[in-house]
Amino acid sequence: MANGRRKIAVIGAGNVGATCAFVLAQMKIADVVLLDIFEGFAKGKALDMSQNATVLNYNGTVTGTANYEDIAGSDVVVVTSGFPRQPGMTREDLIGKNAEIVAQVGQGIKEHAPDSVVIVVTNPLDLMTYHMQQTTGFPHQRVIGQAGVLDSARMAHFIALELNCAEEDVSPMVLGGHGDTMVPLPRYTTVGGIPITQLISKERIEEISARTASGGGEIVKLLERGSAFYAPGSAAAIMAESVLNDRRRVLPASCLLTGQYGLSDVYIGVPCVLGANGVEQIFELELTEEELTSLQTSGEFYKKQLRDVLGY
Ligand code: NAI
Ligand code: 2OP
Repeated sequence: MANGRRKIAVIGAGNVGATCAFVLAQMKIADVVLLDIFEGFAKGKALDMSQNATVLNYNGTVTGTANYEDIAGSDVVVVTSGFPRQPGMTREDLIGKNAEIVAQVGQGIKEHAPDSVVIVVTNPLDLMTYHMQQTTGFPHQRVIGQAGVLDSARMAHFIALELNCAEEDVSPMVLGGHGDTMVPLPRYTTVGGIPITQLISKERIEEISARTASGGGEIVKLLERGSAFYAPGSAAAIMAESVLNDRRRVLPASCLLTGQYGLSDVYIGVPCVLGANGVEQIFELELTEEELTSLQTSGEFYKKQLRDVLGY
């Protein structure tokens, strides 16, 4: 029976999905439904998290399921179902398998949570977000990809290490696709309001930008099985919270471009306002010719993949 509380569904109870659900539970903002193709896996993780409710004083429930009827009424759906990278793989190597999963999950969301805002995490992120929007047929503002919050957080971490300063005072800016064509923007990255270009040498900034762009791969290599999940799951939860509470936070996210930055009909990471309707606004930064070319190259790469591999 409906209880009047708000609801967030997390599809995929694996590493990223379970982390996201766990962070959301601790935020105490909604009931959380964890759905996985393996029912026991989702139910077991939900029960484990529920038994933690007294310890961490949650407010709300975490339930596990394999049944899409249980996501009915969700305000936000976070999609993490899909295969993660293994060492030696690019995110693009996951396209075939994960496109099938996203299509299946998209049908479930369309049928059972037609008014939700969908946050996609499944890789290759920018392509799977486009695929999800096409599958659900939802207005593009209601289908958003998580990458920029994570990629920016990685850059912030490396800058804080470099300057031996507090992470919270670093305001990073990373745009573009969630892959090799990622576009870290040092000119728009500040520490306590000071552009990092005044604090860190050009050479070190280039090294930090390169480490940011290969940040996911660095973790895949270390783990030797699967990919990062603490920061990715938390990043998706932060986006869900901004939507659920209509916080209108300005965050980098993969959005469908409709002419911004000279690109259209492609999902790519840009700064946007995230509120109750999903993407409320996209901000267009003034970019140098070199920065704009990098962003457009990233966009064109994904447009080609959408056409050649996914048939759009
Ligand atoms: P995982 O293997 O731990 O979990 C994936 C879960 O999806 C599994 O529990 C599996 O049973 C479930 N699943 C598979 N097919 C399903 C279906 N049709 N319906 C419902 N559930 C289904 O993988 P992990 O580490 O959680 O990663 C999940 C995805 O997120 C991967 O594609 C990974 O590449 C991506 N990712 C994206 C990031 C980003 O920044 N956008 C960062 C980290 C991971
Ligand atoms: C990451 O960046 C693999 O996309 C995943 O960690």
